[in-house]
Amino acid sequence: MWKVIVVDDEEAVHRITKIVLSNFSFESQKVRLISAYSTNEAKLEIKKNPDTALVLLDVVMEKNSSGLDLVKYIRDEMNNKNVRIVLRTGQPGQAPREEIIFKYDINDYKEKDELTSEKLITTVASSLRAFRDIITLESLKKHLDELVEERTEELKSANEQLKKEVLERKRAEEDLYILNNSLEEQVRIGIEKQMEQEKLLIQQTKLAAMGEMIGAIAHQWRQPLTAVALLVQNIEDAFDYGDLDRDYIKEAVQDCMGQIKFMSKTIDDFRNFFKPDKEARPFDVVLAVREVLSLLSGQLKNHGIDVTVECKCFASKSGCRFKNCEESEITAHGYPNEFKQVLLNVLENSKDALIGKKAKASVEKGYRGEISIDILYKQKNDKIAIHIKDNGGGIKSDIFDKIFEPYFTTKEVGKGTGIGLYMSKLIIENNMGGALYAENIKNGALFTIELHK
Ligand SMILES: Nc1ncnc2c1ncn2[C@@H]1O[C@H](COP(=O)(O)OP(=O)(O)OP(=O)(O)O)[C@@H](O)[C@H]1O
Ligand SMILES: [Mg+2]
Repeated sequence: MWKVIVVDDEEAVHRITKIVLSNFSFESQKVRLISAYSTNEAKLEIKKNPDTALVLLDVVMEKNSSGLDLVKYIRDEMNNKNVRIVLRTGQPGQAPREEIIFKYDINDYKEKDELTSEKLITTVASSLRAFRDIITLESLKKHLDELVEERTEELKSANEQLKKEVLERKRAEEDLYILNNSLEEQVRIGIEKQMEQEKLLIQQTKLAAMGEMIGAIAHQWRQPLTAVALLVQNIEDAFDYGDLDRDYIKEAVQDCMGQIKFMSKTIDDFRNFFKPDKEARPFDVVLAVREVLSLLSGQLKNHGIDVTVECKCFASKSGCRFKNCEESEITAHGYPNEFKQVLLNVLENSKDALIGKKAKASVEKGYRGEISIDILYKQKNDKIAIHIKDNGGGIKSDIFDKIFEPYFTTKEVGKGTGIGLYMSKLIIENNMGGALYAENIKNGALFTIELHK
């Protein structure tokens, strides 16, 4: 039902309008006419019916401008912009059409004469259509507003959430910053501790190396010290027996000096050995063997041990014997003094084995300790091999795998430290790139030292 208010002080106008619109309907809805005869009545009706679609408004009522005042009232005071207002005037001269249409918020301005029933219906229909459009638009707008509001709410809460998250993140970042700082501090302390420990370790390593060096020197000095002690005692005996002549003294001094020189050399050699910057150089293997044997020969002789040396040099087709061998023919690359220490260790082990065997009750009659040294040079692969053989009974199978381990010894306390072979292997394999290994042969052991040219 469309509400239409007719405002007019003439009863006839109300009647005619009612007659004209009695059968009128727009979009299958009829019109409900509400009559107001004065400005005040009109105001009341409009207030009562805010959903009024159209006001057919007389201009001149109590005053010439009554209708126009009501337009202002509806639009400005009541703030009703939807209702359609069609002005109807019986005195067109009072209010010129153009001026009024532009000045007032109205939808049409008609002269009463002009409004035939047909024209009134057209005017009402077009006004209702406009009202319908406004209402549709308004409800659309309302819906849109609602949507916007809803979306705004959502955005607001999303924004709140975001703010919360940002805050949490900030807090987490702060926590992280604090943690990072304390972590950095902890890392710094850790590094400092580590550095201190490293320093300690270096110090300990140095001490251990020194200890090892002292141990090695002591090991190498034991034999020459015994030899010197013996020589000194012998001088006294010789004097007692009247054997002490110039030659005797000369020989004893020479022997003593030999041992002392060896001892002094040992210190230098080991100092070099523990120095990381030592340089390898070519050296004569045969000469080195000779030097070591000359140091040991006295002791070996004392114990009745025979030593043979063979040099199998394949540099020339005919080969050569030790005595004929030119010194320069078998040259190895490495550290000659250390090589001599190794040779000494191996020979001393053989000597110990031979002495041990001789002391055994089960030893066969006429047994003689023997050491044989073969020096081989193969030009083909430029390898030098030194074989040291003895007939001291060999290495027992249950300890065979352990003899190169540090501090492994089968000797009595004070007689062996168990570092001789360990150190020897280190020297030959790590420092000279060669090889040192042992095997058992008939009646004894065979140690092989391999060197490069
Ligand atoms: N020629 C050999 N015959 C039999 N056993 C041997 C021979 N050479 C070494 N061994 C065994 O190997 C062990 C280890 O030898 P290594 O030279 O390392 O130590 P050590 O001679 O016992 O003590 P040191 O440190 O005083 O040399 C010896 O105790 C011995 O049992
Ligand atoms: Mg030894």
